Amino acid sequence: RRSGDRRTNFNHRNPASEAQVTSSTEDNGGQGPDYTTSMRTDRCGDLRSDDVGRQVTLCGWVARRREHGEHLAFVDLRDRSGIIQVVVDGAADLRSEYVLQVTGQVRERPADTANDALSTGAIEVDASEVTILSASEPPPFPLDERTDVDEVLRLRHRYVDLRRPRLQKNLEVRATVNSAVRTAMEEQGFIEVETPMLVASTPEGARDFVVPSRKEPGSFYALPQSPQIFKQLCMIGGIDRYYQIARCLRDEDLRADRQFEFMQLDAEASFVSQDDVLTFITHTVASAAEAVTGERPADFPRMSWHEARERYGSDKPDIRFGMELVELTPVFADTDFRAFQAPCVKGIRVPGGADLSRNRLDDLTETCKGWGAKGLVWMKVEADGLNSPVAKFLTGDEQAALRTTLEAEEGDLLLLVADEHHTTCRILGLLRLELGRPPVTEGGLHFLWVVDFPLFEGLDEAGNPMPAHHPFTMPHEDDLETLEAGDLLSVRSQAYDLVLNGWELGSGSVRIHRREIQQKIFSILGIGADEAQERFGFLLDAFRYGAPPHAGFAFGMDRLIAILAGEENIREVIAYPKTQSGADPLTSAPTPIDDRHLEELGLRVLPRSE
Ligand code: AMO
Ligand code: AMP
Repeated sequence: RRSGDRRTNFNHRNPASEAQVTSSTEDNGGQGPDYTTSMRTDRCGDLRSDDVGRQVTLCGWVARRREHGEHLAFVDLRDRSGIIQVVVDGAADLRSEYVLQVTGQVRERPADTANDALSTGAIEVDASEVTILSASEPPPFPLDERTDVDEVLRLRHRYVDLRRPRLQKNLEVRATVNSAVRTAMEEQGFIEVETPMLVASTPEGARDFVVPSRKEPGSFYALPQSPQIFKQLCMIGGIDRYYQIARCLRDEDLRADRQFEFMQLDAEASFVSQDDVLTFITHTVASAAEAVTGERPADFPRMSWHEARERYGSDKPDIRFGMELVELTPVFADTDFRAFQAPCVKGIRVPGGADLSRNRLDDLTETCKGWGAKGLVWMKVEADGLNSPVAKFLTGDEQAALRTTLEAEEGDLLLLVADEHHTTCRILGLLRLELGRPPVTEGGLHFLWVVDFPLFEGLDEAGNPMPAHHPFTMPHEDDLETLEAGDLLSVRSQAYDLVLNGWELGSGSVRIHRREIQQKIFSILGIGADEAQERFGFLLDAFRYGAPPHAGFAFGMDRLIAILAGEENIREVIAYPKTQSGADPLTSAPTPIDDRHLEELGLRVLPRSE
């Protein structure tokens, strides 16, 4: 018989009083917090062989229960620290997810029953007293890590989902990163300032969430897309190193790396250059990574936006793998093949890709067309030459030069696109990711600074340039004349991004701090003087009162935390996220509001258009 001398005593919802709980005899030598409370002596997962012989009181959830003979049951008791096996002797109704308080003696498990997979696997608690603190209905889904549970179900019962070790770990990683980021910013002299949630619109390129005003029916607050303008005003206010772990809200389509609300480490400093900002942020991000992984990443490499586009076809290059874009325009300078008579021909080499099926290649061609390509040329490198439907249109010299330039070897697949320069780069950049990209969490942490972004990234439908970052970004000093001359798309900016494993982690820039330059940029963006005054008059006015040169940055906390926690979707590192469609299955938000409330806000809801 495995049990102790006496049967376990069962109570119902009547926890042992403070007097019954004898606190832990061992002190923990200053190693972390003391988890002893009036209801428990220890945490389940903290017990070890050293504790054998001790009388302990634990509190936790029934993770699993196995019967052993008529009276004996093995109960896995779980709390935030982990799981321990409790041996209960006597009939009792202890079901999954019941909350128990257990008192008993720690003892060695019989050697043949030890469980190496569990940190407490060598020991168990022989329960003398069990109190049911709270019963539970059968949980809506199994809490083990093996079962794949529908996400809506998980989110509807997030409080149950949160008990799973995966989310417990992820939220701990999150807390570790938050804390490391705060410490690193403060080490560098930044002070935390909170900025408001009910604001006027802050343009960051997404739609605003708005909040109707009761006092002024028909008027609305916007929720901040970022604290951008407020942090700049802080600089004018003499707070020369500001930071905030800031909640930002953007009404945009959700993806693996996007939520409606998300957290930024937001920072701004005065009397600094781009280099200073890069140094601050590198220190902070490296400290956060070190706090989680135990290893400090090496200094982050830098690449110009131009080089990123040429080599990777992207402004957030995933440098974890090769398959770089190779310039082939000169190879086909005099070609007779119509498709390649284009301003720019580039190609990528897929090592060992020659075994891709015809179907897959046709699919890839269609995918590229979906991205806006005119077509896709594929060539398999075989022993007797290039196998491709278009090989016959290329001269022997062209084929030879192509192979040399791409460093092609037998068994490779070559993929070529010809088009306008930016289109060729973009299509091949996407194709490269499609064919070679590992999951974002694989292969370690590859940070990259991308610098020298252009000021504008193209023209919108109305023909106005679109800011590559935001309208407060300072043009490159050397390009101010180009700006005057109106050659807008070639003006560089003092904007920079931080990329991690192909995800945009953050962005920043040196800011405009002079009123006339800001006015000029607004006017180039098609924001007329009146509109600029109406929307941003407070900022333009502030520039009259001594604005220091300043620069800053913001990175997505959720994205950094997800990658550090080994998760591909930021939802897994957010306690209460929204689904892909923006709903919250837990609270059912968003919900309609009643007519009286609408009335008070001066609102009327239009019937839904079909
Ligand atoms: P930006 O708009 O590039 O810059 O945002 C900075 C970083 O915030 C994160 N992020 C998001 N994370 C999750 N869900 C979203 N919907 C989402 N949108 C953005 C990204 C992004 O890189 N005010 C400027 C910064 C500055 O210039 O200082 C800004 O907000 O990781
Ligand atoms: P076509 O001459 O349009 O029949 O195209 C011949 C082959 O070249 C097809 O496989 C097309 O997918 C490909 N192709 C056509 N235009 C381009 C282009 N601009 N870049 C790359 N491949 C192209």
